[in-house]
Amino acid sequence: MKSMILSAYDRMPQSQEIAAPVPDDGEVLVRVVAASLNPLDVKLQSGLAHDYFPLNFPSAIGTDLSGIIEKTGSLTSRWRAGDKVIARLDPTRGGAFADFAIVPENQLVLIPETIALETAAGIPTAAGTAWQALVEYAGIVSGQTVLIHAGAGGVGSFAIQFARGLGARVIATASGDGIDIARRLGADLVIDYRHEDFADKITDIDFVLDTIGGETQRESYKVLRRGGKIASIVAPSDDTTAKAYSVDAEFIFHSSNGARLTEAVKAIQPFDVEILVDSVLPFSQFDRAFERQASGRARGKIILTI
Ligand SMILES: NC(=O)c1ccc[n+]([C@@H]2O[C@H](COP(=O)([O-])OP(=O)(O)OC[C@H]3O[C@@H](n4cnc5c(N)ncnc54)[C@H](OP(=O)(O)O)[C@@H]3O)[C@@H](O)[C@H]2O)c1
Repeated sequence: MKSMILSAYDRMPQSQEIAAPVPDDGEVLVRVVAASLNPLDVKLQSGLAHDYFPLNFPSAIGTDLSGIIEKTGSLTSRWRAGDKVIARLDPTRGGAFADFAIVPENQLVLIPETIALETAAGIPTAAGTAWQALVEYAGIVSGQTVLIHAGAGGVGSFAIQFARGLGARVIATASGDGIDIARRLGADLVIDYRHEDFADKITDIDFVLDTIGGETQRESYKVLRRGGKIASIVAPSDDTTAKAYSVDAEFIFHSSNGARLTEAVKAIQPFDVEILVDSVLPFSQFDRAFERQASGRARGKIILTI
C-alpha cells in the first residue's frame, strides 16, 4: 500500500510502498477514504513539534482520517467490517496519509450517514480541539459572549458553530473573504484583524479561544471580564498576566480521544455545523495540500482523497 513517509525533519514527505499493517488486539484496520491536514503536520515535518511529539525516522505522517473498517483485530468487539468511521491517530505514529491505517478501537467514532465520509476527514483534530476548549474547559452556557480568533480557520470554524449551538454570542477575528465566512458560520460580529484592533472594540468577554498566540494572546487578556477564561491552543498560558486580570488561563493540548470526538460529532447535526472545506485534493497532489496548509491562510480544512 502507499503511505506518505517522512525520512528526516524538514524533508518533504514522499509516497512509498510499504506492507499493509495487521491489526493487533483491540485495533482495527481502516481503509482510508480521505485524510485532512492540520498545522501540526507542518510542525511535525519541520521538527517544531519535536519536544511534544518526537519522531523516529522513517516516520509515517498524518493524524486525521475518515474511512471504512476493513478488518478488526481479536478482542475487538465494538466494530464491524464496513463501519464508516473517523479517527485522530497518535501524532508520533501517524499513518493517516495512506491506503490503510491501524486505529486503536477506542479512538474510532462512527460517522452518521448524514455526513459525507470524505468531508468527515476534516472533523477529528479541529472539532475535537474546539470541543475540548469550549465545552470541557470553558463550560460555555447560553447567554455568554465568546471571542474566537481565526474564525475562518480549521479550529475557529468549528468553534464559532459549537459556541453558537451552545447559545453563546460569538465574536470572531478574520480577514479578507474569511470575514464573510465567519459571518456565514454564525459569528454575530467579525473583526477584521488586519485593519482593526479587536481590543479597542470589545470588552466583558466571557471566554477567548486563542488560536494565534503572541500579541493576539496578550491583547486578549484585556477584553475578558473579571473571572473570564482564555484557552490558548498555541502557547502556554501566562499565569502572571492571568492573575493581574483576574482571569483563568489554560493551554489546551489536544489528545486523541474517541469519547470526546463522539460528543463533538453528536453536536454536528443538532447545531447544524458545516464542515468548512478549504480544498479537496487527490493523494497525488499531497505537496500542494501541504503547501496550502503551511501557508497559514486556509479557510477551513484541506482534504486529501486517498
Ligand atoms: N494545542 C493543540 O492541541 C492544538 C490543536 C489544534 C490546533 N492547534 C494549533 O492552533 C492553530 C490554529 O489551528 P487551525 O487548524 O485552526 O489553523 P488553520 O486552519 O491553518 O488557520 C488558518 C486561519 O488562520 C487565520 N489567521 C492567521 N493569522 C491570524 C490572525 N492574526 N488573526 C486572526 N486570524 C488569523 C487565517 O486567516 P487569514 O488568511 O485571513 O489571515 C486562516 O483562515 C495552529 O497553530 C495549530 O497548530 C493546536
